[in-house]
Amino acid sequence: MLRNETLRNIALTPELHDYLLVQGRMLPDPLLAELAERTREAIPDQAHMVVAPEEAALLTFLVRLLGARTIVEVGTFTGSSSLCLARGLAPGGSLITCDVSAEWTALAREFWTRAGVADRIELRLGPAVSTLRALPAEPHVDLAFIDADKPGYIDYWEELVPRMRPGGLILVDNTLFSGQVIDEFPGVKAAAVHAFNEHARKDERVELVLLPVADGLTLARRLPAEATSF
Ligand SMILES: C[S@@+](CC[C@H](N)C(=O)[O-])C[C@H]1O[C@@H](n2cnc3c(N)ncnc32)[C@H](O)[C@@H]1O
Repeated sequence: MLRNETLRNIALTPELHDYLLVQGRMLPDPLLAELAERTREAIPDQAHMVVAPEEAALLTFLVRLLGARTIVEVGTFTGSSSLCLARGLAPGGSLITCDVSAEWTALAREFWTRAGVADRIELRLGPAVSTLRALPAEPHVDLAFIDADKPGYIDYWEELVPRMRPGGLILVDNTLFSGQVIDEFPGVKAAAVHAFNEHARKDERVELVLLPVADGLTLARRLPAEATSF
């Protein structure tokens, strides 16, 4: 096997994960912690979908780093990631977030209001691909976050890449899919994520990195039209 000698990652124990969250200032604040708890109570079998604390903190950090004013999110659920994205928005900025579930996003609306960010978040209910196709076609998005149904990832990517401004950032969640992306016989979702990873890797319109943050996070930066990443 190739490159094993360059493997530097250490397995995180629960104790080391706690240490990471404390020292990295990535512990959820009381409101995010309450949202995670309310999600666990209301939707116990899906609560694992809430964005991990270290990724949540990274989202806010990247939005601020980029000075993002226009954000698109695919996959709202109960609103943790949108809350973190919206918190980082530059003044006057806005976030469009898409989901198919009115029930799950009701909790999101409650917590956006309590966090004081509801005025900058627009929730669009319906299949994300339709919502994305209805966005202006020109490159205007500063940051996008894809975190929805895995078989849809390539379609979401294809709708978003042309709409990203040069230098804009697409973040894609779960790109290691619990390690199942390298299974010989992956399930449907893992196979879809692997197909997406292959698709993105060959896309010359972006430069990208795939990082072992939480369940795998791909960061892709839109290149100017005349540049290619290869
Ligand atoms: C992993 S969860 C999103 C988690 C969220 N980012 C968070 O941090 O809490 C995936 C979400 O995608 C939504 N979803 C699934 N299929 C969709 C589709 N075709 N269009 C839009 N949203 C979809 C689900 O309803 C679910 O809320």
